[in-house]
Amino acid sequence: MSVLTDCLSPRLLAGTAAFITGGGSGINLAIAHAFAEVGADVAICGRSEERLERAAQELRALGGRVATAVADVRDPEAMNAAISHAAEKIGPLSTIIAGAAGNFLAPAHDMSSKGFRTVIDIDLLGSFHTARSAFDQLRTTRGNIQFISAGQSDNAYLHQAHVGAAKAGIDSLMRHLAAEWGPYGIRSNALVPGPIGGTEGMKRLAAHIGEQPWTDGIALGRFGTPGEVAAMAVVLASPLASFVTGARIAIDGGLALAGSGLVNRALVQAGTVNGQISDGAYSSPRPQVHP
Ligand code: HXC
Ligand code: NAP
Repeated sequence: MSVLTDCLSPRLLAGTAAFITGGGSGINLAIAHAFAEVGADVAICGRSEERLERAAQELRALGGRVATAVADVRDPEAMNAAISHAAEKIGPLSTIIAGAAGNFLAPAHDMSSKGFRTVIDIDLLGSFHTARSAFDQLRTTRGNIQFISAGQSDNAYLHQAHVGAAKAGIDSLMRHLAAEWGPYGIRSNALVPGPIGGTEGMKRLAAHIGEQPWTDGIALGRFGTPGEVAAMAVVLASPLASFVTGARIAIDGGLALAGSGLVNRALVQAGTVNGQISDGAYSSPRPQVHP
């Protein structure tokens, strides 16, 4: 038993199938677990076969059908094949989670075009490819797609210009699909996790400054857990959310209320980027604008 099945029927999503990009680790894997716990069959996709197989073993222990597909979300043909394979193995897909993403801390003035494009390609284009490949499935099941956004979409964080641009694009894509696909009975929403403990994402973002500048800005005073994001994904996929579309739902303990100021100040004080001393722009005193 878990909090999820204490609160919701373990058969809430029985007879349905979910496809999750980036489902081999972190928040996306927790979402796969949660869907399996309430009876859904799940398919996970990512670039590393070994990682997917490890995750699939855990998921199979929960009893449902599990499929894996090695695919890079940047490759539209690979995504078509992954979605077809998943539907063959676990049945028509009624939930799609577009969760694959890449991130690193790098100041915009120092980032190569390829570095910026890589994150746009994985996060934004990857989400589009996933949605586009899944459309026929979603139309058949009158299903739902959930994108994974981030606070960087609407608050400016230092060294996250690429991620902010990608996630803002995802939010817009989500809203456009909600409008275009609503008439097919397809719902489109975005989950906006705050800092989630124990994840690759937070390992990268807290690397130089630790956790406190993040938790100080969170109204609830702590990191979230992958399971807390996953619970919202389950509710959003269920009939409980049958009239919810075009929504951007934060699971962030209230971080958005405080914004990015504390984290940005800590990065300035640390004066480091990628483990190296920065060029000084961030550690010098700011120019006085007013006398
Ligand atoms: C500057 C960097 C860089 C860094 C990579 N690049 N890391 N630039 N600083 N630290 C640049 C490279 O120099 C290269 O450009 C370009 O990006 C592509 O790098 P590759 O290593 O060839 O890319 P690839 O193998 O496709 O890997 C993608 C990746 C990698 C994003 C760079 O880190 C990855 O696979 N990440 C997946 C896991 C991950 O990031 N998880 C966290 C998701 S969390 P040049 O010009 O040099 O060739 C997340 C958090 C959101 O998204 C918000 C949390 C609050
Ligand atoms: P994670 O464990 O690194 O998850 C990212 C997953 O995406 C990995 O399983 C990775 O697997 C896969 N992936 C990366 N590039 C891919 C590609 N090109 N094609 C297919 N799969 C790819 O990170 P996480 O921290 O849990 O983040 C999960 C999601 O939550 C992301 O969308 C992230 O932006 C979002 N988010 C996280 C936080 C946080 O606090 N962690 C906060 C806000 C939003 P492979 O490398 O094997 O392909």
